[in-house]
Amino acid sequence: MKSTILSFAVVAISTAAAGDLPDPLLAIDGSKVRTAVEWREKRRPELLELFTREMYGRNPGRPGAMTFEVFDREPSALGGKATRIQIAIRPGGADGPRMDLLVYVPNQAKGPAPAILGLNFWGNHAIHKDPGIRLTESWVEERTSYADLAGVEKNRATEATRGANASQWPVEEILSRGYALATMYREDVAADHEPHFASGVHPLFPDLQEGDDNFSTIGAWAWSLSRALDALEEEPAIDSKRVAVFGFSRLGKAALWAGASDERFAMVLSNESGAGGAKLFHRGIGEDIARLTKVFPHWFARNFRKYAGRDTALPFDQHQVISLVAPRPVYIASAVEDTYADAEGEFAAAKAAEPVFRLLGAEGLPCDSWPAPNKTVQGGIGYHVRDGKHDVLPYDWAQYLDFADKHLKSL
Ligand code: GCU
Repeated sequence: MKSTILSFAVVAISTAAAGDLPDPLLAIDGSKVRTAVEWREKRRPELLELFTREMYGRNPGRPGAMTFEVFDREPSALGGKATRIQIAIRPGGADGPRMDLLVYVPNQAKGPAPAILGLNFWGNHAIHKDPGIRLTESWVEERTSYADLAGVEKNRATEATRGANASQWPVEEILSRGYALATMYREDVAADHEPHFASGVHPLFPDLQEGDDNFSTIGAWAWSLSRALDALEEEPAIDSKRVAVFGFSRLGKAALWAGASDERFAMVLSNESGAGGAKLFHRGIGEDIARLTKVFPHWFARNFRKYAGRDTALPFDQHQVISLVAPRPVYIASAVEDTYADAEGEFAAAKAAEPVFRLLGAEGLPCDSWPAPNKTVQGGIGYHVRDGKHDVLPYDWAQYLDFADKHLKSL
């Protein structure tokens, strides 16, 4: 599958990795970061500020007015396998917009369970046919290539769409491995359709739209994952110190930024996050900044638009976002046919983040060249590229659960 172009790109990236890629360990004042303390006190805050200002935008932090309402607790859900908990998170207080967090906790758990938390594309009710899941009242897409949304009417969910996206969420498999699963719907959080910033949580924070470092949609999704973690911290059935944040595609971009910026997440699982997620822009392969900011102008802060056409000369790049997860484990997965996401560029980004993992005493990605398809490599950083298209498949989950066993079980 390595075309001539891709083989050429390997050379290009080793050159970039050696010199042209911005060094995660080089501080703005030109000094080299040599200790964990310098990383933590100086360089990490610098990078967080850089990516906040130039790319993902500012967020409101934890709102003082936020409320959590547990509106459902069913101890014998899924035929007795799980306890289902549903929590309405209202960041603006009791009368404000709600983000419904759906949680399944394995009933076989002996104590507080580790969890996997991720946003979903088409509503909590679309991840499983369980009739007890509250149907979202938020806007829902009517057509997509990943799920059968034929039952969506006038952009509203109906009973017919229960389980429409179940193939990407192997709930029983996750539970049987001892993990809780928590999920929330992207449109409960922020509008991913026009008019942007008009529904979900954005109307609560108008001041954050004023500057060019505005509260973006991916920024809001990442922020919402932290708010979901706030809710999980209050739930005794969950071990909130062992929560992995997961996401696919645009929601993988959000999961990576959430894990990078909120150190309470114990692990990050990035499934085909691609451009603005785990892939390097510097290679100039796959989806570029011009397309990202034109087709999805709401995803990133307005500042990011000025880099359109400047991908290969960007003063920062996504390996630095990955490095912000260090020393916590991060798994980056791609698919061979997902050319936008540039699988090899995701691998190169993971490799370029390694120096930070090593500095902080964690293992990097233990392989020197791009692994063949369907071969998982798991160190402190995990990686695979699998055959097939842009999707979340059982192969992907099998690796994530093994990676979680390796790192979270021992915590
Ligand atoms: C588009 C976009 C990608 C994104 C994907 C998705 O294909 O170009 O950047 O990851 O949508 O979220 O499904």
